[in-house]
Amino acid sequence: MSTVLITGAARGLGLDFVKQYAARGWKVHACARKVEALRGLEGDIHAHGLEVTDYEAVKSLARKLAGEAIDVLICNAGISGKEATILGSIDPATWRETFEVNTLAPLVMAEAFVDHVARSKDRKLIAISSRLGSIALADNGRYAYRASKAALNMEWKGLSVDTADKNLICVVLHPGWVQTDMGGAAATLTIDQSVPAMVKVIDGLKAADNGRFINYDGSEIPW
Ligand SMILES: NC(=O)c1ccc[n+]([C@@H]2O[C@H](COP(=O)([O-])OP(=O)(O)OC[C@H]3O[C@@H](n4cnc5c(N)ncnc54)[C@H](OP(=O)(O)O)[C@@H]3O)[C@@H](O)[C@H]2O)c1
Repeated sequence: MSTVLITGAARGLGLDFVKQYAARGWKVHACARKVEALRGLEGDIHAHGLEVTDYEAVKSLARKLAGEAIDVLICNAGISGKEATILGSIDPATWRETFEVNTLAPLVMAEAFVDHVARSKDRKLIAISSRLGSIALADNGRYAYRASKAALNMEWKGLSVDTADKNLICVVLHPGWVQTDMGGAAATLTIDQSVPAMVKVIDGLKAADNGRFINYDGSEIPW
């Protein structure tokens, strides 16, 4: 049996990752601040209350799951940091929060769970990033969000090198622009068009994909 751990699992893309993996018979560790949303879902789902910036709670969960093999770790929880979008409205508190959730928390998760992933069969460490974090494709505005995802990308590239001796596959994925609370109703993709496609990409990852930035449809995104 394969095991996945997902953060931000109570709504949006995270909730659908839970449903997709549970439907395939995987053991799912679903981490969310509001675990009520996970009640009544079918499958081998283990709900864990987790605020990803509570680093003691992250370590405590890692200790609770010590000895378990986690095939796929998906650091999905994220915020848009909307208030820090344009020059003239840069708010340091929003910047700090955006970086805390989008950048520092995934790295702390990776650090806490690297051995769980390393002892698994699949050994995949996935961060849900964004095309908006691509420096090559940079556009205006959304400073905090873009910078937080660019920094997340750099972290994952670093992890792909640092964990080479553990044969992990460290990949950052862009889900597309998706109709979630974050993406909004005008987004071009439904959750059904994004998450199953990302699961397919994750399924197909090979050792040679370590350190790549990949779109939900499997195409390459330039850093
Ligand atoms: N939707 C898009 O178009 C799009 C595009 C590119 C990248 N992404 C990325 O995809 C990921 C998921 O986004 P989404 O569209 O599903 O957004 P969403 O609908 O707003 O959901 C965000 C999820 O993250 C969780 N979260 C936020 N801060 C958290 C924290 N401090 N601790 C624990 N959980 C936290 C939320 O939990 P609560 O319910 O407790 O708030 C929620 O489950 C994010 O990393 C986002 O940046 C999305």
